[in-house]
Order: sequence, then C-alpha cells, then structure tokens
Amino acid sequence: MLNPVKEKITLLREQIKQHNTHYYSLDTPTITDSEYDRLLLQLKQLESENPKFLTPDSPTQKVGGAVLDKFIKVNHEVPMLSLDNVFNGEDLSDFIERLNNRLTLTENLTFCAEPKLDGLAISLLYENGILVRAATRGDGSIGEDVTHNVKTIQNIPHQLQGENIPETIEIRGEVVMPMAAFNNYNKKASENGEKSFANPRNAAAGSLRQLDSKITAKRPLAFFSYGIGLVNNGDLANSHFQRLQQLKKWGLPLTNEIEVKQGFQGCLDYYQTILTLRDTLPYEIDGIVYKVDDIELQQQLGFISRAPRWAIAHKFPAQEEQTKLLDVEFQVGRTGAITPVAILEPVFVGGVNISRASLHNNDEIERLGIKIGDTVVVRRAADVIPQISRSLPEQNLSPKTIVFPSNCPVCKSEIEKIEGEAVARCSGGLYCAAQRKEAIQYFSSRKAMNIDGLGEKVVEQLVDEKLINNPADLFVLKSEQLIGLERMGPKKAENLINALNNSKKTTFAKFLLALGIREVGEATAKNLAEYYLTLDALKSADIDSLQEVDDVGEIVAKHVDYFFRQTHNLEVIDALLAAGIEWPVLVPKEQKKLPLLDKTYVLTGTLNKMKRNEAKAALQLLGAKVSGSVSAKTNCVVAGESAGSKLTKAQELNIPIIDEDGLIALLESFSDK
Ligand code: IVH
Repeated sequence: MLNPVKEKITLLREQIKQHNTHYYSLDTPTITDSEYDRLLLQLKQLESENPKFLTPDSPTQKVGGAVLDKFIKVNHEVPMLSLDNVFNGEDLSDFIERLNNRLTLTENLTFCAEPKLDGLAISLLYENGILVRAATRGDGSIGEDVTHNVKTIQNIPHQLQGENIPETIEIRGEVVMPMAAFNNYNKKASENGEKSFANPRNAAAGSLRQLDSKITAKRPLAFFSYGIGLVNNGDLANSHFQRLQQLKKWGLPLTNEIEVKQGFQGCLDYYQTILTLRDTLPYEIDGIVYKVDDIELQQQLGFISRAPRWAIAHKFPAQEEQTKLLDVEFQVGRTGAITPVAILEPVFVGGVNISRASLHNNDEIERLGIKIGDTVVVRRAADVIPQISRSLPEQNLSPKTIVFPSNCPVCKSEIEKIEGEAVARCSGGLYCAAQRKEAIQYFSSRKAMNIDGLGEKVVEQLVDEKLINNPADLFVLKSEQLIGLERMGPKKAENLINALNNSKKTTFAKFLLALGIREVGEATAKNLAEYYLTLDALKSADIDSLQEVDDVGEIVAKHVDYFFRQTHNLEVIDALLAAGIEWPVLVPKEQKKLPLLDKTYVLTGTLNKMKRNEAKAALQLLGAKVSGSVSAKTNCVVAGESAGSKLTKAQELNIPIIDEDGLIALLESFSDK
C-alpha cells in the first residue's frame, strides 16, 4: 500500500516541476507566484517532517529550471544559488537568532539590506575589465549563454572603468524590465493585437532568452548588480556593502535603496520603509534581501543545498492571487453606463478580502479573454482598486462565454453602444429605476446636498416602494412613510427628515453638482456657479457662452445645454426650489476685489470732519459691512469723540480701534485704487 504522505510529496514535486518549466523555461507561468510559494512551502514542510522521503532531485533542493537547448550551455564555477524566504517578522527574528547562535555572537549582526528585484538572475564575466560572457542562472550549475542579448542592455558596461579591477570578476545581478517600459510595452502590444506579458519578470526573461538579439535590443531592459561570483587576482573589501560600492565605481549599476542595517529591528524598519515605497519604485520588487555584511562571517556560515545560510529573502505580501470567476453581473450607473462586474470566489489579496472586481467594459473582457468558470489572477496594488489582470488558461475547464446584454438588466430598455466609445449605456434615462436610484444617491452625497442618513438601502427601498421618483420627492416625505421601511425606527426617520431640512441651505455650486449633469463634477460646477451667478442665467446660457467658462469644452457645454432643455429636469428643479432649497446670493468676481470685502466696521462716538452717514457709505463702497454693535466678529471700531460702551467692549475683545483721522487715512489710502 502506498504511503499517503509519500504520495502527497510525489504529487507536489510533480506539480512544482511542471510549474518550474512554465516559469523558468517557457516564461509563461500558469499559477501566481504566491500559489507557487505555497506549494513549495508545503513540500518543504512535509520533507522536513519526513526526512526519509527527502531526495536530491526534489525541487526543494534545486535552483531554477531546465536549460534550454537552443542556447550554448555555460558552467557556473561558483554555483548561482537561490534564497530561502521568510514571510513575517517572527520568521525573520528566528532566522537572525539562528545566525547569532551559529556565530556565537552577542551584539547585533550587521546586514546589507537590498530590494529583491523581480527579474532574471544573470552572471556577467569580465576578463581584464572586458565583458566576455553573460549567462542565465539556469539550474544553478549550468546556465544559458546570452552574451549577444545582454550586450544590448543599455546600462551594462562592455568595459569596466577605474582602478584595481581584478583579472577575472563575475558580477551577479538581476535583469529587469522597468515598470514604465513594461506598461508601455503591454499597452502597445494590446493595441496591435499582440500577446502581452503577464508581469515584468516574464517580460524580462522572455526578452532576454531570444535567439535573435535584435528582438532583445528593442526591449527596454535594465540590469542591477547584487553580488560577486568568481574572482581571480583581485583585492576586494571585506564587507558586502563596500564591495557593491566598488562595483558602482567600476561603472556597474546598483539599485538606489541598498543600505547597511543593524540587527532585527534595523532590518524590520528597512522592510517597512521599502514596502511603503514599493509602488513608487521604477522596478517591480517582491521583497527584501538581508545579507550578513561581513564576508568572513558569510564564509563561516556557508550554504545549505540551494541557498546561502547568510542571506534571506523577506517577501512582501502578494499583490496577486488566483481565484475563480463565478459570474459576471452588469451594473447600471447614474448615467446609464453598463459596467460588467466580476463575481469572484472570495480571495485575500493585499490585506483585504475581494469578491467583486470591475471589468470596466466589453473591450476589457475581450482583452482579458476571460470566461465564466476561469481561474483568474486578481491584482491589488496598494491603494489601487482590485483588478483582474489575466486568466490562467491551463486551469480553465468548462468555461462559459460572457455575453454582454443588449437590454438593460433593470428596465429592459435597449443598451446603446456608440461607435468608438468603450462604454455601453442603458437608453432608459430616469425611466430606469437603477439610474433613478443612482441619481438620487448622487444628489444626496456628501459633496453635493450632503443629506445624512440617506444610504443606498434607504434610497433603494424608497424607489422600489414608489415613495419617490426624483430628488424633489425627498422633501415631501413624511416620517410616517419612512417608519415603514426596513431598519428605520421613529428616531432614524426623524433624523432623516431633519437632515433633509438642514440640507436645504446649500451653495449654488453644490446644487448644480447635485443635479448630476453629465461630465459636471465638483470643479466644473464651481466654475459654472461663479461664472453665471444665478440659476436663471445658467439655464438660458447657450453652448458658445458655456464654453467661455473655465474648463468647459464643447462636450461639457453640450451636456449642460441638453440638461436644461429637458422639461422633466426643469420640473424637478422648480420642485426643489419650491421645497425651499436656497443658497447665498453670489456676487460678481469684480466686487470681490473690493479691499474691505467681508470686513465688519463699527462706528461710535462723534465724528467732527465727516458725517456718520458719509463715513458709513464710504466704508460700504469699499465692500465693508457697517454694524451697530461690537462683537467678536467685528474687525475694526472707529471711535470718535466721547465714545462710550462700544469702545470699552472693543478694548475688552482686543479689536483694533482707529480714530476719525485713522478712518480718513484709511479711506484716502484706497481713494486712487
Ligand atoms: S542574492 C547567494 N540579492 O532572487 C545569494 N538575489 O530568490 C543569491 N534577487 O536568484 C541571490 N534581488 O535572482 C540576491 N538583491 C538581491 C536580489 C536577488 C533579486 C533574485 C535572484 C535570486 C533570487 C532568489
């Protein structure tokens, strides 16, 4: 009878070997990196719990993948090793503790901390300073000769510069496709209907392992050194960090983030710092590598099978996970835009559980080539909404084609697709309950009318129960009607009625925004309000006049014009105004230039050189308000002769006080402006 553990181990080994071929030899992985890491970790654990099953051909004991026949083979005199991983602080702390124990050290170990670039390991051999050979890592002992291709990489020197260059030196590092170049490449590829790369690492590997170096030359690759292999007749520093600095002096590129760190805390601080920078770096990184900095200590520590004992990779949380596409729903937005939304088997990515992801439009579905039932990769970079980045075709068994509907899923009106536009729209307008709900929700949102307590669920019920049809209907709702709704008690209903009443005092710009005119966002609403000042002026503006407003082009102008020509919109606006919505009267911008605008003056006591009325009018002409009483809001008190209690109060409140001469000087200072 077969031993179930042994069977599991054999199965895992077969799976991992297959993935190695896809990943290292074919450059088209069929699972995510995190899934691969999990399989490898599972195998490692089983092997360490059952050492009798450990064999040297296990993928846990090997580096990389097979070497492709199409390339000349290169023997690595000093093997090109891999790294062990840790995924959290606790395992990192254990790793450092093991080093301390082995080295019987008491003080903090010094580490060289480096970003872990997600690319392809390369060895560059320099003889007398001249680049003579470049090779891939291959299986760690035998790699592929890619000299002709590596020579096309712009930042790799063909000849080293400077002093003390060893007779033979082998530089090791990573070839990457920088993020900007990768995005650019994929954008062009999808525009031309060509195959895009799954990620920057595949892009780098696929580009470098070409037989025709003309193809490699067209791919924008870059190289960054992280170590040294073989050395003959050379005198190198005893610190890894110092050695890297020496490479830089010879003209070899380094990443900018390499630093020396002390002990566990130093390493962890570095990890946190680089993690926050992750998405701003020009290259993709998937973690940190900490290396014991002292070369003598490195030699004391030595190696285990496939990795050095003196280094560890601290992996970042995965930005990509795979899951199943269960279904696709079609959502109707405020303006009728139909958005396909992927319904996913819940998956934990980048710290959150994801069960839905926007598919944007039909073009995106076609670009991804996904079908319902597919295994897809969900990507969530920091602060970016989750995306489906690709499908993993090898794993797709009985997929169902995604059919874009021709009628609105909510109101059954026809869906319009305008030639040249990616977005398809429901033609139902406010007849469509989905659009109505969204419009009312938008109307009440914080940046618009700011109606507290009018959440999605409430709006949905109000529309479904036919209690409201448009935003104006909100203001005639009675609390008895609200109390009937789900999870709406008398207190909540009262609060909502109060919030509705409070929202009636608004600004012209917010009111305009709340109307939900297509393409009129916050900034445009503000510009329109400031330009036209009154609703009547805006309503009667024509398309030419509208385009005089800041940031309003032909398209926006047409949307605004169209909106105010729809009778039903005008009716809703009238009803809203009748319900008591109001805003402060706006003054033309010119008046804002008045020097005393928004300032409050108080005149008190007897003026001898001018009449009090004249003084008041002169101040008002400059934009000031003239008030009869002193308060904390008063900006200045003009105190004539025998001023009394108002003067005392101004003194108490520390309000600036001027006398009649001061007032005259003030007025004169503005007289020629
Ligand atoms: S040191 C003996 N440093 O990660 C130490 N590797 O998972 C060998 N990598 O094969 C590697 N950035 O391709 C080292 N700063 C860095 C690295 C780095 C990326 C890659 C390298 C290596 C793989 C191991």
